[in-house]
Amino acid sequence: MDYGIETRCLHLEGDDAENRYGAISFPIYQTATFAHRGVGESTGYDYTRLQNPTREQLEKIVASLEKGIDALAFSSGMAAIGAVMELFHPGDHLIIDSDLYGGSVRLFGSISEKNGISFTSVNCSQDDVGNYITEKTKAVYIETPTNPMMNVTDIQKLSELTKEKGILLIVDNTFLSPYLQNPLELGADIVVHSGTKYLGGHNDTIAGFVVTNNEKISERLRFIIKTTGAGLAPFDSWLIMRGIQTLPVRMDRAQDNAARMAEWLLKQKRVKKVIYPGLASHPGYEIMKKQCRGFGAMITFEVDDKEFALFLLRNVRLIRFAESLGGTETLLTYPVTQTHADVPDEELAKNGISDRTLRMSVGIEAVEDLIGDLERVFRLKEEENNG
Ligand SMILES: Cc1ncc(COP(=O)(O)O)c(C=O)c1O
Repeated sequence: MDYGIETRCLHLEGDDAENRYGAISFPIYQTATFAHRGVGESTGYDYTRLQNPTREQLEKIVASLEKGIDALAFSSGMAAIGAVMELFHPGDHLIIDSDLYGGSVRLFGSISEKNGISFTSVNCSQDDVGNYITEKTKAVYIETPTNPMMNVTDIQKLSELTKEKGILLIVDNTFLSPYLQNPLELGADIVVHSGTKYLGGHNDTIAGFVVTNNEKISERLRFIIKTTGAGLAPFDSWLIMRGIQTLPVRMDRAQDNAARMAEWLLKQKRVKKVIYPGLASHPGYEIMKKQCRGFGAMITFEVDDKEFALFLLRNVRLIRFAESLGGTETLLTYPVTQTHADVPDEELAKNGISDRTLRMSVGIEAVEDLIGDLERVFRLKEEENNG
């Protein structure tokens, strides 16, 4: 019988811990290279760019959490997505969701396109993706929920189409983590993660992952990671491994907090829109219930004017104004100047992202304190307006 996911965040089945002098914490193999007794007598490790025991242990854990046959740990989420793009060739065409992390949009538009890959941006949560597939299309790339507008796509339904057409489905699972959603089980071929977010979980390490259940893709990615040298360093691998140990408890707590904060935001006069997929009014709510084990801890909301959005960012204290998400600390992000700064204004407008849009990654603090911080800022503005 398989261990439950909470156990798999801590223990690998069949792991030979005795061989590590019984060390409970997995050792950090802080070495660049490995000695050989003679030609053809490798210990299994030759050079850390190719593989390192600490990175390998982390990769096994992430593969087990995402239910893939292989996971590769990269030096950042962008390095992971960049490696996936290396699977394609000049002339290939990809369909990408119209709402994606801005860094991914920048990579596709500035580097992948230069390498001869073309993209069509489609709202995969609403439009019929089949209408955009051509004989050159090799993959569909989505996030669900998307960053930052929290659009939800039915992964299983989309995977039926991609399988029928013989193309790949790639899902960025950063926003929910494998604790809440397993795209490979729903029919995706490749999962990517910014490991910097929920997997690491402490806003202290940059990392990324690619997970697959396809042997050919795994083999190709192994070649790419060793050739481009984008693998995660041993110490950072250890930090992410330690972060993963508490993923379930952090995630449970963060999403409870997020549900409370979404309800609170809904009641504020100056908040015009609250986008949280755990609200029954969210268009993706039923799909989330079907394909996820929770709703996550990301909330996007819109206030009534830009000046108030800037005021909030300037005046929060406990909540910090910073880029990133998925850590223990609650962060407020301003997509137009941060995560999506390089996305053209027309694209942002099409997706409903404006200078009044704020994104909040809810952490694990006492929720009363988080709400108290926002309450204080809302009150401060009201007092200022009343002279
Ligand atoms: C959904 C998503 N994917 C990928 C990335 C890129 O990850 P990294 O910052 O670790 O390179 C981010 C970063 O914010 C993200 O939000």
